[in-house]
Amino acid sequence: MSYDPAVIAPIPQATALYGPRFQRDPAELYREMRRDHGPVAPVLLEGGVPAWLLLGYREIRYVTTNPELFSRISVHWHSWHLVPDDWSLRPYAEAQHCSIHTEAAEHRLRAPALHEALAGVDQFELANQVEAIADRLIDEFAGRGTADLIAEYTHRIPLLALAKLYGLPDSDAPALVHDVAASADEGEEAVKAHGRIVARMARLVREKCERPGADLPSRVLAHPIGLSEEEIATDLFMTMGAGQLTTADWMGNTLRLMLTDERFAVTLSGGRRSVGQAPTQNFIGRWAKNDTQLAGRHIRKGDLLVLGLAAANSDPQVRPESGDSTGNEAYMSFSHGEHGCPYPAQEIARTITRVGIEVLLDRLPDIVLAVEPDALEWRSSVWMRGLTTLPVEFTPAYVARY
Ligand code: HEM
Repeated sequence: MSYDPAVIAPIPQATALYGPRFQRDPAELYREMRRDHGPVAPVLLEGGVPAWLLLGYREIRYVTTNPELFSRISVHWHSWHLVPDDWSLRPYAEAQHCSIHTEAAEHRLRAPALHEALAGVDQFELANQVEAIADRLIDEFAGRGTADLIAEYTHRIPLLALAKLYGLPDSDAPALVHDVAASADEGEEAVKAHGRIVARMARLVREKCERPGADLPSRVLAHPIGLSEEEIATDLFMTMGAGQLTTADWMGNTLRLMLTDERFAVTLSGGRRSVGQAPTQNFIGRWAKNDTQLAGRHIRKGDLLVLGLAAANSDPQVRPESGDSTGNEAYMSFSHGEHGCPYPAQEIARTITRVGIEVLLDRLPDIVLAVEPDALEWRSSVWMRGLTTLPVEFTPAYVARY
């Protein structure tokens, strides 16, 4: 599909990126927006907060590879006054004191401490740890013959694996799993849970200063750039947030595909591919540091640009509408450029997802969906596409592995 920048209306009609219409069929809405506005569309975020949605693959690549012009930090935003205190998107937008939220030159200098520490993760050891975690979780429900794979499996594995990478004792894991889940809700308990995780990360960094180990925090601490303890604690907190739900939903979406789509079921027994529907939909974001032009749009200094990762994955400029592939359709799901998901982190996500799926299929080979595929529901979220539940059935006899 092509568009003519000259015919784009100068005062655009913004589309709400929330509400029933968006939740029902986001892909259809992206198609309409692309047709009406081209690859850069005006949108309203929850609460009527204005932004631009980048629907084009090329536009996202351009914006994410020009951090001097499009900052990762929200201090440039001219619309903070429109944002209510209890805005649920605040955690995604607010700048944090850490190496991830730094301007381009500083990010280049400071981010390698975290990125190199992630690269130091031994993928074989991680695979062994995930296998043990997965086995333990399956033991809890295998005897029943039924399970909700989201609550009992996919949403627990990544955090337990990350706790291992962080060198946290096993005894800390249950409280962490509880707090991370609670912090994603709304209200007072969420704020308290968030505070407890931040405090635990600060304590962890202190402990690793005193007794370094073969773990991620110790490697960041040992990096010659010398990040402060506070920065490291916030980086660890943000990394946990970046890795938990994304990987959990990736595993959940892949399992859904395998249990509902015959084309994937065929490869399931043989290849056991771990590529499914990537969860990332939209991502806040980038802020324009100066007035500029993008795909025929006038972007003002301080405008917010939301990365439309899911829309870009199906951009007809790079993917024909008729495309009927069972391969990796997640070109843009990890974003792009120097703030994109670090490559070693992508590998970690892949290992966790692959091993989690392999162990499940190995232990419960006759697993099937316990409801009609149409009964599966997606969580209402503008950022991530993930299931609320994934009820399955299997023969309980397969419990007797140990
Ligand atoms: C399926 C799994 C995952 C997906 C889809 C995903 C996706 C993303 C996306 C979209 C970004 C933002 C990029 C941007 O601002 O342009 C990001 C950043 C990041 N992700 Fe991931 N991620 C995943 C798993 C993980 C895991 C497992 C970890 C760590 C163990 C991780 C660590 C990070 C970090 C540290 C950043 C910030 C990079 C920076 O700004 O320097 N991610 N990820």
